[in-house]
Amino acid sequence: MLSSKIIGVGMYVPETVVTNEDLSKIMDTTDEWIIERTGIKERRFFKEGVDTVSSMAAHAAEQALERAGKKAEEIDLIVMATLSSDYNFPGSGVLLQRKLPFRQIPAFDVKAQCSGFIFALSVADQFIKTGMYKNALVVGSEVQSNVFEKSDRGRNMAVIFGDGAGAVVLEATEEKNKGILTTKLHSDGHFAEELYLEHPGSRRKERFNAKMMETGELLPYMNGKLVFVNALKYFPEVIREALASCNLKDEDIDLLIPHQANARITAAVQKEMNLPDEKVISNIHKYGNTTAASIPIGLCEAWEQGRIKEGDLIAIAGFGSGFMWASALIRW
Ligand code: UT7
Repeated sequence: MLSSKIIGVGMYVPETVVTNEDLSKIMDTTDEWIIERTGIKERRFFKEGVDTVSSMAAHAAEQALERAGKKAEEIDLIVMATLSSDYNFPGSGVLLQRKLPFRQIPAFDVKAQCSGFIFALSVADQFIKTGMYKNALVVGSEVQSNVFEKSDRGRNMAVIFGDGAGAVVLEATEEKNKGILTTKLHSDGHFAEELYLEHPGSRRKERFNAKMMETGELLPYMNGKLVFVNALKYFPEVIREALASCNLKDEDIDLLIPHQANARITAAVQKEMNLPDEKVISNIHKYGNTTAASIPIGLCEAWEQGRIKEGDLIAIAGFGSGFMWASALIRW
């Protein structure tokens, strides 16, 4: 029986730090409001001409490959999780592929928003389990800072999101009870329009026009309260679904790395699952919500800080636009 083991982790965040004070100078918001409602103190914004989703992914991938002791040439598959691809098409997976000396391997995007990294990880895991590929690279990378209007009109979302990338290298292993133990994936498309960006979509005769700029139709929409309430329900549910399928319990978790949506969501999940602070990763104060990048960034920082040891049970979980939600259990 084959399973997939994470043998290298990497991350990259753009240099530019944007604080809550910086944002409060350009829109009607305050440091207090942002901290109280979200826990965010600062986030990173990409620099045009320096960072792109694929370039940040390449930096994170290089670090993960180096730590894994693998060359890009040895990788058999690239799965890229992003909702903010460099181009409308093709996806950013191929743009990452050409940045490092990968072979002509499959490289494709998974668009599952805040749960994107876990969906992508699960896809790569299936290929490894079947024996089709031996080494895979899974990346989450996002540029979010240019989709919101940094104005009073856009403030409800502009203060929450940030840019960055994280990556993992997976390798096939025959070791028992090692690596990715399970992944659980869910969606409910009835909620698609509760957190979405309609344009430039293909539904209309014109994908976009000048009027959409004026009316704000080119901005994403989020029903914050509904997303919040559902996140509180589905985070614990999907983590416990994974635990139950492996005959494990809440207290068996050594480290929970939830998607960093809101510090209040993370705190509520922690409380519900009765986990002490040292078992839960929260870094949203530094990066905001980096969507598909937040879990691999959290994983990378936890590893760098020595918070992950051989044999630990790591739980990762995400919830977001779609609605889509997912979890994975990893025996390190
Ligand atoms: O990764 C998944 C994606 N998203 C999420 O997980 C988000 C989940 N939802 C949330 O995190 C929260 O709902 C938010 C942080 C987005 C908002 O917090 P909230 O406590 O639900 O606030 P609210 O939307 O009810 O807004 C409260 C007030 C409103 O004013 P009134 O109507 O009470 O006068 C807003 O207009 O705060 C106002 N407001 C702001 N004030 C200062 C909204 N955005 C801001 C802002 N600065 N940036």
